[in-house]
Amino acid sequence: MKSLPVNNQEWLIKKIIKKGGTISFYDYMDLVLNDPNNGYYGSGRANLGSKGDFVTSPSMSDDFAFLLSKQIHEWLIQVKNKSIYDDKLSVIEFGAGDGTLMSGLLAYFLIHDKKLLKNVCFIIFEPNKGMIKKQHKKLEKYLKLGFDILWKNLEDLEDNTLNGVVLANEVLDALPVERIINSKGKMHRQGVSLDKKSGKLFFEEITITQELKKSIASVQERLDINIPPKNAPEGWTTEWHIDNKKWLKAIYAKMNNGIVLIIDYAKEAKRYYSPSNSNGTLISYKHQKIVENVFESPGNCDLTSHVCIESLIYDSETSGFETIGIVKQGEALLALGLAERLFEIQNELKDDISKALFRREALLRLVDPICLGDFKWFIFSKFNNKKIKINSSCVR
Ligand SMILES: C[S@@+](CC[C@H](N)C(=O)[O-])C[C@H]1O[C@@H](n2cnc3c(N)ncnc32)[C@H](O)[C@@H]1O
Repeated sequence: MKSLPVNNQEWLIKKIIKKGGTISFYDYMDLVLNDPNNGYYGSGRANLGSKGDFVTSPSMSDDFAFLLSKQIHEWLIQVKNKSIYDDKLSVIEFGAGDGTLMSGLLAYFLIHDKKLLKNVCFIIFEPNKGMIKKQHKKLEKYLKLGFDILWKNLEDLEDNTLNGVVLANEVLDALPVERIINSKGKMHRQGVSLDKKSGKLFFEEITITQELKKSIASVQERLDINIPPKNAPEGWTTEWHIDNKKWLKAIYAKMNNGIVLIIDYAKEAKRYYSPSNSNGTLISYKHQKIVENVFESPGNCDLTSHVCIESLIYDSETSGFETIGIVKQGEALLALGLAERLFEIQNELKDDISKALFRREALLRLVDPICLGDFKWFIFSKFNNKKIKINSSCVR
């Protein structure tokens, strides 16, 4: 039983007491991120960007949305030209943060393909009302111009009706995860308990659920890995993305023809589930710094966990998708013209050196191999006609 000092908050204490004093780590993460009043995203407190708590690629540089738009453009044209779909296409963004990426996509199409823009509906799937407010604000200009921008729930759509491109940038790493612990030769589920006297939270081992056991067993068998790994030390802990499969299955059911692009922090299974990675990948951020104690200031910090590359591919393929490719963000952006973009910036801003340097620095951070450049782009597809081949410039 590990106890950590905690700057506890009344709202969370009340919720845990209501549940009997112990909740699963999954429920803890869900509450601190998505509670409508107090969660980091639920309340809209999440502050992205270089002046906020952490940077995401779109918040780092507008050039990210520009380069990504080139890829989306290429995909949409192919879906149209191959007569896969004749009616209005959709660009769907899951977890749109403060709306920066969506705003960048609209800006791109407004300049580069107004004709196609008229035939595209932009949809955001965002469960957190606090973030929806921010997205509305950012996209106000485009809403006023009459662009087709909608906020929906996946459940609102009929099955097999989505045609187009689905995007999720740094969304899977924000979904609540289960944590599992190797203790006395057995696998346990991690829980979070409240010490009523001190008001402190601490980790506690709770019984593993059948659902979790089954999910781990099926991936273990298919990927030929051991969880916990052989020689895992006592207390070895890892994360399990129990919702990825459900999320992918739900998208697959709604999709008719299209492409899914997931961009996220990701690790190979052999590194994720190695004996030396004994405390998983869970990270909490605030003001651009890692917060060591994941119980600190609940609802005021981000909480995130890397995805496992092979598990995500497995979840996707067993949901029905085909894998088009997996590529590092640095390589994808270079293939989409990052070097040319750097050259354009230098020319465009030759009279404003400081702005040019700022843009250049931000672009280079997107491909930095020890930072955002190491993100993985996972490209999956569903086409009714399995013979259709789609070109993706980002995968060379
Ligand atoms: C780390 S932020 C990424 C924001 C944005 N995509 C970006 O790259 O700047 C995670 C986003 O996912 C949203 N989110 C959390 N759970 C979600 C879910 N189940 N479905 C869709 N979005 C979700 C959060 O509210 C937030 O907008």
